[in-house]
Amino acid sequence: MCGIVGYIGSKPAREIILKGLKRLEYRGYDSAGVTLINGGIKTFKCKGHVKDLEKLVNESNFDGTIGLGHTRWATHGEPSEVNAHPQISYKGNFIMVHNGIIENYATLKKHLIDRGVTFKSETDTEVLVNLIDHLYIEGGFSAEQAISFALNRVKGAYGLVIICSDEKDRLYAARKGSPLIIGVGEGENYIASDASPIVEFTQRVIYLNDEDMAIVKKNELILKTIRNQIIEPEVKEVDLSIGEIEKEGFPHFMLKEIFEQPKAIHNTFRGRVLPDLSGIRIGGMYDMMDDFIKAERIIIVACGTSYHAGLLGEYFFEEFTRIPVEVEYASEFRYRNPIIKKNDIVIAISQSGETADTLAAVKLAKSKGAKVFGICNVVGSSIPRETDAGTYTHAGPEIGVASTKAFSTQVIALSMIASELGNKRGIISDDDHKSFITDLVKIPALIEETLKMNDQVLEVAKVIQNANNALYLGRGYLYPVALEGALKLKEISYIHAEGYPAAEMKHGPIALIDENMPVVVVATKDDTYEKIINNIQEIKARKGMVIAIVTRGDDIIGKIANHVLEVPETIPAFSGILAVVPLQLLAYHAAVLRGCNVDQPRNLAKSVTVE
Ligand code: G6P
Repeated sequence: MCGIVGYIGSKPAREIILKGLKRLEYRGYDSAGVTLINGGIKTFKCKGHVKDLEKLVNESNFDGTIGLGHTRWATHGEPSEVNAHPQISYKGNFIMVHNGIIENYATLKKHLIDRGVTFKSETDTEVLVNLIDHLYIEGGFSAEQAISFALNRVKGAYGLVIICSDEKDRLYAARKGSPLIIGVGEGENYIASDASPIVEFTQRVIYLNDEDMAIVKKNELILKTIRNQIIEPEVKEVDLSIGEIEKEGFPHFMLKEIFEQPKAIHNTFRGRVLPDLSGIRIGGMYDMMDDFIKAERIIIVACGTSYHAGLLGEYFFEEFTRIPVEVEYASEFRYRNPIIKKNDIVIAISQSGETADTLAAVKLAKSKGAKVFGICNVVGSSIPRETDAGTYTHAGPEIGVASTKAFSTQVIALSMIASELGNKRGIISDDDHKSFITDLVKIPALIEETLKMNDQVLEVAKVIQNANNALYLGRGYLYPVALEGALKLKEISYIHAEGYPAAEMKHGPIALIDENMPVVVVATKDDTYEKIINNIQEIKARKGMVIAIVTRGDDIIGKIANHVLEVPETIPAFSGILAVVPLQLLAYHAAVLRGCNVDQPRNLAKSVTVE
């Protein structure tokens, strides 16, 4: 949560920072702020989005060649101007932007108040910046020493950029737990939470590691640990184009990303499927193949949409490999003292690779001796760096807060691993494996076809746009898809929605059904098709309005349901990956019709780097 940008060079910093913050707004958008150095130092901040900040800064005409900026997702203190970052220290010597949480802020705050330090905001960030200034003023330390001493005293997570007003030729940056990268330019350097604000200017980046601290000047970059040990910077090339982080004619990132799914899925299996379709070679998986083959249990940990992908993973692994699977919310797993045995494999799924609970679950699993495999999208993020092995989904940057293409690519990656492992374990014959891969490579074209129903889904969205509640039902592979459809609707349109296994409906949700309750039934053809027809009849008998996602040509459900959306035929294991597309579009159109901010839904953030 929270996006950070820093710039030092000769160009006008204002535009670079504001543009960068807009690219990072997916990380938070409660308030925003910027500090610019131009001989003097000026800070601008306001409640609201980066466009509000832009208006404020533009009114002043002030610019600089050095600066830092922040877009916030509030943790400590409500969204307001005073709680917005940058936070300025009590003596005004330090200006800081922060992403993360200082967990021992209350103890440190008391310590500082007892020594006469005053506070203006409710933020934990002000505690840290005041601690640095206190060490600088009262302790007689240099700015660099004050920063590193303070960082050695704080517990929690931080990605930081700091200005010291006595040293206007440099920015300080530090990281622990929250991502931060440095973009290396010619006579200029950039700092940001991810590569998106940087790639326009340089492809050369340094990923800071935990407890790294950088002193960043125009023509110089010094990298150390917070314990003052010099580190040799490792410069990497980032593989990201500007087109990937712009809307490219789509009204919203979410719609663009829904439409990118054929390409994204293709990229997930590209280069991994053998040319004769006889096998799948995922490098990271082969690094751990012995462990996978010996595995007695797989535990999947994830949050949000990635958790729903994990639930589909459970069906894949149990069907294809016969290994028992448990799927856990990372936040529950990490605090449950879970039982992990020698031959257990933990699979962590995360689009961002930064979700705090998933990262903590990975560390816990490792500390208990499990082998941990990661499925992530963002290259170089924290989770892939912690896991024993893993694979990237290569979905490309996902900027809309509601996850779409990340989900479908995670599901594809899980299915590929499961089928390959099933084959290696002798559960799936070579012929069945080949037949599965043959169906896999057809998925991008089938999603392309599914996307053609966009206008039809818009019409159905008009029917549900004024609903207060909605129920989503599915069975088997389609149950996690129902959960995901409900999550999409509630997170962006604010219509309350619940996903349920269809047969469980009669144990509770059926009581809610009346003519005002849309019920979205995911009912493509699989083994439970007959059963789900009965569920639809039960809803109709109670005057519920049924929107059914069916396999093309289904004339049975077509006659009973009020609205029908048809997806192409595929094998049952892949039916969910097609059925989720109309559900994503349904949520999207309902949200647009209700006037909601689709890409930046209230209170949410793309990457939850706090507990
Ligand atoms: C947030 C996002 C969701 C995402 C979840 C897990 O809640 O809004 O879209 O599914 O975090 O994120 P991850 O990056 O770990 O997949």
